[in-house]
Amino acid sequence: MNTEKFDNKIAIYPGSFDPITNGHVDIIKRGIRIFDEIIVLVANNFSKTALFTVEERCQFIREVFQDYPGIRVDSHDGLLIDYLKNSGANTILRGMRALSDFEYEFQMALMNRRQTKKVETVFLMSGFRWFYTSSKLIKEVASLGGSVRGLVPENVHQKLLEKYNINANGR
Ligand code: PNS
Repeated sequence: MNTEKFDNKIAIYPGSFDPITNGHVDIIKRGIRIFDEIIVLVANNFSKTALFTVEERCQFIREVFQDYPGIRVDSHDGLLIDYLKNSGANTILRGMRALSDFEYEFQMALMNRRQTKKVETVFLMSGFRWFYTSSKLIKEVASLGGSVRGLVPENVHQKLLEKYNINANGR
């Protein structure tokens, strides 16, 4: 087993972030206490149809973390491992909510590790306030006119209202 220490504490936090939720924000803010730098990587996930463009998703995250040194935002089209190799990072950061996330996360962590042994995936348990939220559910509720205020950053909330043509006064 290779016990050689990683030469930096840079983590990549990849995801679809369509859009970023307060659950993601929580993971990033807790992650930056552990890592010197976090690259929030917006992936163009081909298996999902996105509501927001990659540029919009990056912009939301940049706005939320504009005052946080050590947090960078980038996007990527291909394999996560290829990005990781080029960035010099060795760690993938992921949040874990309920047990239902486990199998999917386990599969991805093992698949990524199969491609390079120079990677570790580190999981942070989701904050209990965000245990039941997901971008998908938030979009569904917002599209049907339900309130998602407080579940996403305010800039995202405003864009969701615009996207679904909902009058903000009602919520
Ligand atoms: O927020 P998500 O949709 O759960 O994030 C999934 C993501 C983006 C981390 C995953 O789909 C990914 O890494 N995509 C990049 C392409 C890739 O490397 N796929 C193989 C993953 S084992």
